[in-house]
Amino acid sequence: MGLASGLAFSARGHRLVGYDVKSEVRSAVRRGETPFTEPGLDRLLREQVRSGRFRVVDSVDELVRDVEGIFVCVPTPSRPNGRIDLGPLKRSAREIGSAIRTVRGFRLVAVKSTVVPGTTEAVVAPILRRTSRRGPRDLGVAVNPEFLAEGSMVHDALEPDRIVLGTSDPRSREWLHRAYRPFPSPVFTLSPSGAELVKYAANSFLALKVSFANEIGRIAAEVGVNVDDVVAAVGHDPRIGSRFFRAGPGFGGSCFDKDVRALVTRCRELGFRFRAGEVALKINDEQLEYVFDRVREVVGSLRGKRLALLGLSFKAGTDDVRETRALPIAERLVAAGTTVRAHDPVAMPRFGRVWAAASGPRRRKLKLCVSVERALTGADAAILQTDWPEYGRWPPKWSKRMRRPVLVDLRRFVKPEVARRAGLELVRLGDGTRPPAR
Ligand SMILES: NC(=O)c1ccc[n+]([C@@H]2O[C@H](COP(=O)([O-])OP(=O)(O)OC[C@H]3O[C@@H](n4cnc5c(N)ncnc54)[C@H](O)[C@@H]3O)[C@@H](O)[C@H]2O)c1
Repeated sequence: MGLASGLAFSARGHRLVGYDVKSEVRSAVRRGETPFTEPGLDRLLREQVRSGRFRVVDSVDELVRDVEGIFVCVPTPSRPNGRIDLGPLKRSAREIGSAIRTVRGFRLVAVKSTVVPGTTEAVVAPILRRTSRRGPRDLGVAVNPEFLAEGSMVHDALEPDRIVLGTSDPRSREWLHRAYRPFPSPVFTLSPSGAELVKYAANSFLALKVSFANEIGRIAAEVGVNVDDVVAAVGHDPRIGSRFFRAGPGFGGSCFDKDVRALVTRCRELGFRFRAGEVALKINDEQLEYVFDRVREVVGSLRGKRLALLGLSFKAGTDDVRETRALPIAERLVAAGTTVRAHDPVAMPRFGRVWAAASGPRRRKLKLCVSVERALTGADAAILQTDWPEYGRWPPKWSKRMRRPVLVDLRRFVKPEVARRAGLELVRLGDGTRPPAR
């Protein structure tokens, strides 16, 4: 997130200095290579490095010497108890505060990482003030949540739907308004806690929208209609909207589950319940069961079967496998005695590392395959988890490789006419298709 939003500032004419604690990330970015797969980001990075407006330094001291405003984009991952881990953010605040202590002039620190309401004022600002020995007059502390989505980071960072600023003093407010002046987006100014809540409310709403579509998908399958036709008509109502309104294997990715869980947990701590968030998570968990029931309907007992799992990233357009549904699907298949042959055009290295850490002694029951054809060879069925364009083309030779050419399509991505031409049986989640007879 930090790289994409930093590049957007640079592309909009600002001078941007970046720092990452990992030296390999700094070196890659200096060479013009993004440390992850994201459409258009490599090009934007190379353009901005060439423009001379974007550069990377090797220490926080150097960074703080060179700039007036510091955007903190460090990770805030989930802990097992649902709270977010504030370790990286606290460490970063200490480093920035200590560096600020050694320089002159106003500095602004804006928290871009996603943090639960109250965190910036109760946790980050006190650390910054203590370590920098500065009061509010020459150290501003603000919140500036980021809404970009992986797969469309470049567009989202350059042209955000809206900019949300959380400030408690006029100097920080003016500074941030000036920084965002070149962006063509409406600006909403709130208190720091208000801005933090906007981010959580937005992600919770989107997670709920996905879960809602998944429940409608289950109903659609029962009554024999296609969920896509239903949600297209429902989402056409501008009060509802069609974006992020799609049934599938459930939401994944680094943000939705983590953010909804964090707000649910925070509300419990405060003595009440965030039921909409709880429901979004519960439906998402159940969707995995639902996927499994469909797979079992197709292949019967999973013991001794061989299945192909196509698509390992949490969505197309990224190699991010954080919270990808591919992992619990693979784990459960393997636990049920199935051999899994997996493929993804970009995410196999990352998935391989996650799988090695998660799978224990069953590790060898999943093999990563360099081609779709290899993954399909001898398979009793295939599961389409990520809608990568190449899977949608499904040539007849792919079906011929399979022991039984049947695809459980969790995204309704392969068109029925393509499947017909390829001699492929299709079982599409949520379109009312009866599972083919075994
Ligand atoms: N990924 C997204 O699409 C997205 C969108 C909006 C908001 N966010 C939020 O942004 C934050 C970062 O998410 P991400 O997905 O970019 O995480 P990430 O793990 O992909 O990247 C974080 C980077 O911060 C670096 N880092 C860690 N500690 C550091 C420190 N003390 N000083 C300097 N660098 C440090 C890491 O080396 C890593 O390169 C999270 O709070 C997340 O919720 C992410």
